[in-house]
Amino acid sequence: MTAQTFKERDYFTDPTVLLDPYGYFEEMRPRGPVCQLETHDCLLISGFEECVEVLRNPADFSSLNSLASSAFPLPFKPEGSDISEQIEAHRDKYVGGDLVVTFDDAHHTNVRSLMSRMFTPSRLKANEVFMRDYAGELVRAAVAGGGCELVNQIATPYVTMVVADLLGVPAEDRTRFEEKIAAGQTVGSIENPDAPTDMSAVEFMGAYFYGYLEERMANPGTDLLSELATLPYPDGTKPDILELVGLAVFMFAAGQDTSAKLLGNSMRYIVDVPGLQQQLRDDRTLIPWLLEEVLRLEGSSKATHRIARRDTKIGDRPVPAGTQVIVALAAANRDPRRWGDDANEFKLKRPGIKQHIAFGRGSHTCAGAPLARAEVTAILNQFFDQTSDIRISAEKHGKPGARHYKFEPSFIIRGLENLYLELTP
Ligand code: HEM
Repeated sequence: MTAQTFKERDYFTDPTVLLDPYGYFEEMRPRGPVCQLETHDCLLISGFEECVEVLRNPADFSSLNSLASSAFPLPFKPEGSDISEQIEAHRDKYVGGDLVVTFDDAHHTNVRSLMSRMFTPSRLKANEVFMRDYAGELVRAAVAGGGCELVNQIATPYVTMVVADLLGVPAEDRTRFEEKIAAGQTVGSIENPDAPTDMSAVEFMGAYFYGYLEERMANPGTDLLSELATLPYPDGTKPDILELVGLAVFMFAAGQDTSAKLLGNSMRYIVDVPGLQQQLRDDRTLIPWLLEEVLRLEGSSKATHRIARRDTKIGDRPVPAGTQVIVALAAANRDPRRWGDDANEFKLKRPGIKQHIAFGRGSHTCAGAPLARAEVTAILNQFFDQTSDIRISAEKHGKPGARHYKFEPSFIIRGLENLYLELTP
């Protein structure tokens, strides 16, 4: 099929793209690493170098549409070669415009500085004890039952409780949040094209976090929320409480689906790649290599988005101010120019694997990446400790080589809706 003959599928709504986004990106690659979509007025960036270039250039690319996506036209007519002020003036028109991942410039640098002081190695270490114990409990119950549905029964409650523990959310409220998140629509839903990202769970949790932060300001403890309540910005000024609420809630929400899906995606590879399960059982030091290769091949964020705020370039291609771009992380992570001809294959210990951009790159790089890695490692270790064999249910997903899976109906998240496992103690 040549670039001229196929009818372009809609990245944002087509269910066949959802099933196989990688096939869609391969179809688009012959049009170049940066190409104009026919279905939407935006650029698709599928080249590794080009994605990195954009992510590393926040001076020319605003993050305001990183959650809302490039699917919608700008809510204003761009005027001139620098539209930074117009973009800021329309922040309230954007889903998530009050969340750190969409901030630009000094506002972002300030809020980001709070986060980097929170995810300290000693805090993660303390949280690891909770991860190990809670993962142990969940896996024990699953093994006793002979199997489990991994994504909803184990992964989602696990990651919710881990981040709740890290932040210091009171035990009695944790289940309430878990239920609210589980009941909500996925981010970037392809089933609701007019409002693909719903913020009601974030708003619901916001009211609780406001209360926690007020309480911690009056009586600081040792948890992360207390630290957040008392930390100043680098210039010595104190953040507004609403700013802190937004940050805490976003950290809570951003690490839910993404980390839970990483566990599901990892388990699928562990069981389906011949010999891999035994290799990992024999040598647990291979787990980090497995995670990085799964993140590259099947990272849980398929894409993020940017708006050119100034007349700029990507490579040699001129990009006028006001252009929206899809930074296709999943495409970049399989770009054969960067990863070679076997880019679509699973390869443990792939040279240069840490260069993948599943967690983004540049100033907005995922703040929770160390946590995501630690939590999935902890629970995989429990699965290996407590089982002698893990199988994917052939009844639910078909036999090896002819599996069928359902994927989260989202143009942002890549992950299994469910994964049924059989476990031998
Ligand atoms: C496998 C799991 C995860 C993946 C694949 C992932 C992916 C990403 C990506 C691609 C970005 C960059 C977005 C952009 O540049 O527009 C990001 C940002 C972010 N992530 Fe994650 N994430 C994961 C887990 C987590 C966890 C566990 C947390 C927190 C507890 C978290 C918190 C954040 C935050 C706060 C940001 C915004 C950083 C900023 O704007 O400066 N993420 N994540």
